[in-house]
Amino acid sequence: MKKLWFGLLCVSLILTLGANAVMAQQVLKVGTSADFPPFEFQDEKTGEYLGFDIDLINAIGEAAGMEVDIVNAAWDGLIPGLLTGNFDCIISAMTITEERLKAVDFSDPYFSASQVIVTKIDDTSINTIDDLVGKQVSVQIGTTGDLTASEIEGAIVKRFNLAPDAIQEVRNGGVAACIIDLAVAEEISQQYKDIKYGEPITTEEYGIAIRKGNAQLLEKINEGIAKVKASGEYDEIYAKWLKD
Ligand code: ARG
Repeated sequence: MKKLWFGLLCVSLILTLGANAVMAQQVLKVGTSADFPPFEFQDEKTGEYLGFDIDLINAIGEAAGMEVDIVNAAWDGLIPGLLTGNFDCIISAMTITEERLKAVDFSDPYFSASQVIVTKIDDTSINTIDDLVGKQVSVQIGTTGDLTASEIEGAIVKRFNLAPDAIQEVRNGGVAACIIDLAVAEEISQQYKDIKYGEPITTEEYGIAIRKGNAQLLEKINEGIAKVKASGEYDEIYAKWLKD
């Protein structure tokens, strides 16, 4: 009798461990910097993570049979956090760049984006990137906006940890302009009527970043993107968060 109980105990232990292993495999830990509406931001009241990227990664997770766990982290800590294993992938309106491709792999592109110049509403002197020569420009640190601003001759680049703070600096009069992603400029300038933004000055594509050589996860994510696009869910998410 004792042997039987011991046997049953062993069997249930193995089953529990096995089930946990399967479940653990299915959780996709996703790093994001939730300071970038309409792509990723935190609901002020509920603390919930919302936005285009959040809906998209949840849809991808569902299509690929993985449970999504969102981890909020500082923008400039996202790639280091991915590399140390704090999360399995990054979705954060992250542009696929040559520099980043040296450190991480990217999924198929999921969004066409660009940088724009944000100025005060009544500023008529700044229309193109050339108008920023020798001027003070704010950016979010380590972004493609930072990269673009850093190439302007004689420009003084003020770098902020949080994207909204870079835009706020224009409103405060601390800089002549901010360089930031189009949809974010659009979103924030709708909230603050004292700023405006211009025509696209770059062409970029966002991708989901994963650690190099993680071929299985890359395939799952790319298949997920393809499914979500084919089902029409991508278009629904797009229409929910973005204008036109
Ligand atoms: N697209 C730009 C880049 O990749 C900015 C992204 C910033 N993302 C964020 N969640 N703050 O550099």
